Amino acid sequence: MLDVLKGATVFPPPVWIMRQAGRYLPEYRETRKRAGSFLDLCYNPDLAVEVTLQPIRRFGFDASILFSDILVVPHALGRDLRFEEGRGPLMTPLEAEEIDGLNGDMFHVNLSPVYETVRRLRLELPAETTLLGFCGAPFTVASYMIAGHGTVDQAPARLFGYQHPEAMKRLLKILADWSARYLIRQIEAGADAVQIFDSWSGVLDERGFAEFCIEPVADIVRQVHAACPGVPVIAFPRGAGSRYTGFRKATGSDALALDWTVPLDQARKLQQEGPVQGNLDPQRLVAGGKALSDGVGTILAALGDGPLVFNLGHGITPQTPVSHVEQMLREVREARRG
Ligand code: CP3
Repeated sequence: MLDVLKGATVFPPPVWIMRQAGRYLPEYRETRKRAGSFLDLCYNPDLAVEVTLQPIRRFGFDASILFSDILVVPHALGRDLRFEEGRGPLMTPLEAEEIDGLNGDMFHVNLSPVYETVRRLRLELPAETTLLGFCGAPFTVASYMIAGHGTVDQAPARLFGYQHPEAMKRLLKILADWSARYLIRQIEAGADAVQIFDSWSGVLDERGFAEFCIEPVADIVRQVHAACPGVPVIAFPRGAGSRYTGFRKATGSDALALDWTVPLDQARKLQQEGPVQGNLDPQRLVAGGKALSDGVGTILAALGDGPLVFNLGHGITPQTPVSHVEQMLREVREARRG
């Protein structure tokens, strides 16, 4: 996996899946019940290590992703956060006047359980399993801080960016700086590579994409590369569409995670400039059978002769049967070059 992130072609490709520790696994649901709340699970190294390892034990994925959430960053800056069953994250909506009150004095103290989880994972994981750290991209994190909850199109965050351009700029810069420090600490604790999740970059207009997505992501990548040369950074600007083209260069990221709507001929062009990750539709994994085989086969045929990390185009959904994950792994791992 690390070789691929540095540009090598490996076939069959390494494979992991976004949200691989999650509710589709009975052992996750069991541990989650023991933890109490979702955040208790994120901040308890014993349990966070346990759920991170569960999909590795069961499936032997080539990469393991730290179990946490992107919203622990604003939480560590003093914003309140809770997760309600069936409603996702809930925060008190951030007002423009509150931005200067974001306080990083306790940031690394608050996140020390996460660093401890990474340290223990690197010790417990097989040496050949790549350990991924992660953070949310500033715009995606800001959209939950501003709206106070998930929305379908992040209208509150877009409006905030237009009505309070200076405040938005300051907020994204604060998030970029703390996110970079957060990733650097994860790397120092043992993460081999990191991924920046910009799940909502796709809702932005051209100028918004440049200012709210590209600029802050490039800022994080620059800081991480300066502190940790040689550690690959994967960027995931979900929904970026035609704007995936040029994104690697504009942000300095090493690898591009592609959502499932990216056409494979575009993906091949992106792959000529460096590694790509993705991009199976998670609903093909829910469907299984031929729909799944078709999806796996097409991706391997289009992207198998370049640097590819096989993955989904977004997180696995809770209703996915475990047997379909097994089918996917079998088909990727038994694939022969056509
Ligand atoms: O990939 C992994 O296995 C690592 C863990 C991980 C989680 N969240 C665990 C989680 C990662 C990398 C994330 C990132 C994350 N969190 C993103 C970016 C990626 C994406 O999916 O777009 C976002 C937008 C969030 C914010 C968030 N966290 C939402 C919107 C929700 C609710 C949605 C849901 O599925 O319920 C969460 C909760 C969450 N984060 C869960 C998990 C396993 C489910 C909560 C539970 O177990 O009760």
